[in-house]
Amino acid sequence: MLNRFGWKNGLAALVLSALSSVALAQAAKPHVVVLATGGTIAGAGASAANSATYSAAKVPVDKLLAGLPELGQVARVSGEQVFQIASESFTNDHLLTLARRVSALSKQADVNGIVVTHGTDTLEETAYFLNLVVRTSKPIVVVGSMRPGTALSADGALNLYDAVSVAASQDAAGKGVLVTMNDEIQSGRDVSKSINIKTEAFKSQWGPLGMVVEGRNYWFRAPVKRHTNASEFNIDEIQSLPAVDIVYGYSNMNTTGIEAYGKAGVKALIHAGTGNGSVAAQAVPALRAVRASGVQVIRAARVPDGFVLRNAEQPDDQYDWVVSHDLRPQKARILAMVALTKAQDAKSLQRIFWEY
Ligand code: DGL
Repeated sequence: MLNRFGWKNGLAALVLSALSSVALAQAAKPHVVVLATGGTIAGAGASAANSATYSAAKVPVDKLLAGLPELGQVARVSGEQVFQIASESFTNDHLLTLARRVSALSKQADVNGIVVTHGTDTLEETAYFLNLVVRTSKPIVVVGSMRPGTALSADGALNLYDAVSVAASQDAAGKGVLVTMNDEIQSGRDVSKSINIKTEAFKSQWGPLGMVVEGRNYWFRAPVKRHTNASEFNIDEIQSLPAVDIVYGYSNMNTTGIEAYGKAGVKALIHAGTGNGSVAAQAVPALRAVRASGVQVIRAARVPDGFVLRNAEQPDDQYDWVVSHDLRPQKARILAMVALTKAQDAKSLQRIFWEY
């Protein structure tokens, strides 16, 4: 029979071995780093009934992660608070800082995947920027929420669980930057916030890449445009981003905005035209003058889906203009800024808009 000390030592050894096997199992899980930047996923409202009235960028990353112990089922998770802002206030400096941190982490052998929590307003721009400039095949997943965690039927917890689960998945590698919202796995290039008050807000006209359900990914297509390791751009070689702005086309539009941006010294001007990127007759001379002053002109469309046809609504070859392909104006701006760090002529820019 075990003596008084024997059975205690035996029990202690049993508990220790059980704990060490749990610790070993956890240590064996993929390591996912969550970079928090703010937004509604870190938001808080006055009451559970406030699903749309709340303050964004309030909850720190350690509290976000502590409130979701289920994350430990899919990965070993660590968190960093990069910013704590509403995403409509993102600047180019925020983009550069975040991309540099993502790039540095992606080079670490002990990091298997990266999640970026982000406000939904400009999430699509950040996701596309990372898709263009971070050289890695490791999963990078950007995630947000439409309701704060304090609201009834909040969507942030499951969106974050899905994001960490996808970032921990080997089958998510090499697919470019991804966005997980509302059970869908979207391409960071294609997706945009298309509804401003529903949890099903994020759409791509080409559809999601797949779905994530109960921690398992179901893939249905893969990106064909260049991204991450296949990109010619590299955040580690980008010191700053050039000024690129957007003017909106509409009935009875005037040229004040076009002329002002031309004088302000932008390097490219995105024209979000009506229809298939149409330009009002009264605006064509102003855009041609801006082009003649050295500013690149990129014809996009205010119509969210479809793609702008070159030389259709306007003689782009003759005017030396670029068309944005299927990119919405805000995405075209991101690509134009990145492209201008390497290309200076319209022909090279157009190649980049076809390929990315
Ligand atoms: N202010 C908005 C933002 O940070 C809130 C929207 C959200 O995060 O869902 O993008």
